[in-house]
Amino acid sequence: MAAPDKFKRILVTSALPYANGPIHLGHLAGAYLPADIYVRYQRLKKRDVVYICGSDEHGVPITIAAEKEGVSPQDIVDKFHFRNKEAFERFGMSFTFYGRTSSPVHHETSREIFTTLNDKNIFQRKTEEQLFDAKANMFLPDRYVKGECPICGYEEAYGDQCEKCGSSLSPTELKNPKSALSDDTPQLKKTEHWYIPLGDFQDRVAKWIDTHKEWKPNVLGQVKSWLNDGLGDRAVTRDLSWGVQVPLPEANGKVLYVWFDAPIGYISATKEWAEQQNDPDLWKTYWQDEETKLVHFIGKDNIVFHCIMFPAMLMAHGKYVLPENVPANEFLNLEGAKLSTSKNYAVWLEDYLQKYEVDPLRYYLTATAPETKDSDFVWQEYLQRNNSELADILGNFINRTLAFTAKRFDGAIPARGKLDDMDQGLLQTLNQAPEKVGEAIEKFEMRKALFSFIDVARSCNKYFNDQEPWKTVKSDPEKCATTINICLHACNMLSLLM
Ligand code: 2FM
Ligand code: ZN
Repeated sequence: MAAPDKFKRILVTSALPYANGPIHLGHLAGAYLPADIYVRYQRLKKRDVVYICGSDEHGVPITIAAEKEGVSPQDIVDKFHFRNKEAFERFGMSFTFYGRTSSPVHHETSREIFTTLNDKNIFQRKTEEQLFDAKANMFLPDRYVKGECPICGYEEAYGDQCEKCGSSLSPTELKNPKSALSDDTPQLKKTEHWYIPLGDFQDRVAKWIDTHKEWKPNVLGQVKSWLNDGLGDRAVTRDLSWGVQVPLPEANGKVLYVWFDAPIGYISATKEWAEQQNDPDLWKTYWQDEETKLVHFIGKDNIVFHCIMFPAMLMAHGKYVLPENVPANEFLNLEGAKLSTSKNYAVWLEDYLQKYEVDPLRYYLTATAPETKDSDFVWQEYLQRNNSELADILGNFINRTLAFTAKRFDGAIPARGKLDDMDQGLLQTLNQAPEKVGEAIEKFEMRKALFSFIDVARSCNKYFNDQEPWKTVKSDPEKCATTINICLHACNMLSLLM
C-alpha cells in the first residue's frame, strides 16, 4: 500500500470530543465528517491510513458537568464516552480506533512525555497569584471563573476563552470575576505551576509554519496572528483533582492541564490500537517515522493548540513527526444562531438518528461545510437539497436505470455496441470524475468534491433523457443496450465516488 507524494503512510486524527455531553451537528461538520471523507477516500486509493479519535475525559468541562448533575466525573465520562462512540458509529464514522484519555496507557504516556520534557529542563516553575474560591476551598482554573471579557466586554466570558470574540484568556484577565461554583467573587492566592515557555519555540514554530504555505488561509491567519503577538508562557499544570497526576513528588495534588494531555491522547490511542494488532511497537512507525503524513482535523477553536502548543511539545521531545496539515473548519451555526452545548442550543446527533437517515445528513453537512467561513444549518435547505439533488438527480438516475434494466433486460447487463458522441461524452466524464473528486479531497475541499460528484450524477441523468432508451428499445435495440450498459457502468462509478 502506498500514500501520495513523499509519504508512505497517513495518520489522521479528529479532535477528541469532551465526554461532557452528546455530539451535535456542529461537531460533525467541523472535525469529524470531513476527516471521515478523507480517510475513506485514502482507503479506496489503497493507502496505508490509520484514523484515530476518542474521548477527551479530563479538564474543567468534565468536572463542571459532574457538579451540575451531582455525580462523579467518572460517571460523566463513562456515560458520554459510550454514548458518543455509539452515535459516531451509527453516523458511519470509520475510526480505526476510538480511545479515551482515562485509560491507563494514556495516563502513562502523558506522564512519560511530561517527564521527558522536565528532564530536558524545558519547563519553568513559577509561583503566581491565581483566583481562589474560599467557600469551595479550591483554585479556579479555566471555566471555573466567569466574568467580563477584557477585549469585547461580553459579560459571560470564561476564564480560558471568550465565546463571543474568540479571544483566549486567563482567569485573572476577566473583569468582575465570579466563581462558577459559588458565584462568589474569588480572592487571589499564590500557587506554583509548571509552564512551557512557548517563546523559546517561537522561531522554530514560525520557520516550520513557513514551510506550509499550502495550509488553509483561515488556519495560517490565526497562527500568524499568535506569532505576531509573540508567544508567552503557558501553564501545563492545574490545581485540580481530576486529570493525569503530575509525575513529581513536589507537585502532589496537581494534575496536567487538559490541553497538555488531550493531544497526547492521539498517541496513546495509537498505542492501544497497536496493542490490539498484537504489534505493540507499530504505533512508533506512525508517530516517529518521517514518512508519515500526520493530519489533524479540528474546529477553529482548537487551532492554537494543534498548530503551536502541541507541535512545540513534540519539537521539545524531539522524537515525533509534526503535522503535515491541520485543515481546521470554521463553525456551523444552526438557523442563524451559534450552537452551544452549555446553552443546550443544538441538534443532537442521537435525536437526529431517532428520526432520520444518515446519508441525507452527511450530504447536507458536506454541502454546507464551514470550510472557509462560518456556515448555517437550515432545516428547509436540508429538505430542499435532499429532494432536488439526492432524490431528483442521483436517486432518479439510479432508479430509472435499474428499473429499466429489470423490465427490459431481465436484470442483466446488456452488451455495449457502437458508441455515439453522447456515449463517448459521458464515458469521458465518468473517467475523469475520480481524479477530479480526488484532487478536491486531497486539498480538503470536500464541498467542491461533493459538487463535482453531484454534477456527474446530473450528467448521467441528462444522458438518460437525451438517449431516450424507452424509444430506442423499439426503434434501435442495440443502441438501447449500449445506453443501459453505460448507465449501469455509471451507477457503479457513482457508488464508488459516493
Ligand atoms: O475542544 C474540544 O472539544 C477538545 N476536547 C478537543 C481536544 S483535541 C485533542 F487535542 F485532543
Ligand atoms: Zn470577548
